Amino acid sequence: MADRVGIYPGSFDPPTYGHLDLISRAYRLFDTFIVAVAYNPEKKGLFSVDERIEMLRHCTKDYANIEITSFQGLTAEFARQRNATTLVRGLRVVSDFEYEITMAIANQKLNPKIDTVCLMPSEKFLLLSSRIVREIAVFGGDLREFVPPEIQRRIAEKLGHK
Ligand code: PNS
Repeated sequence: MADRVGIYPGSFDPPTYGHLDLISRAYRLFDTFIVAVAYNPEKKGLFSVDERIEMLRHCTKDYANIEITSFQGLTAEFARQRNATTLVRGLRVVSDFEYEITMAIANQKLNPKIDTVCLMPSEKFLLLSSRIVREIAVFGGDLREFVPPEIQRRIAEKLGHK
């Protein structure tokens, strides 16, 4: 049987405990699991794509079958290049659903070989997002519950807080 390749695409700006929770659930479902940071030419972001990759690599260094990379352009095209069968996305609250189903259907049209699987995070992370983390960070709030220490350090450094 061919290798099952799964891709978890996203912005990861920055990676949070929610993303890491999802990775810890999803990687077991695939032979090769790729966490892929998407370039978004319309959004500058807090961290560069390379910095996000470094942070994700640091946080997942104990996993054997995870590849961390980036891609430009369409997720569906990247999935085709990597012979992936599945896109993985986190589904937290009902308001995520509309966004996720719209993307899943668009990706299905662009690449009919791809299915999107949504996984639910641990209850602790249901309301956690990178956007919330960036907002708290800007005002110097305590991020300990939301991101690992290395990411806290990098955020503080980026924002010139220490
Ligand atoms: O973490 P995010 O910001 O919710 O991730 C969104 C992402 C990166 C998965 C989505 O914007 C995406 O797939 N971008 C690549 C361009 C693309 O394929 N767009 C069409 C998707 S319908």
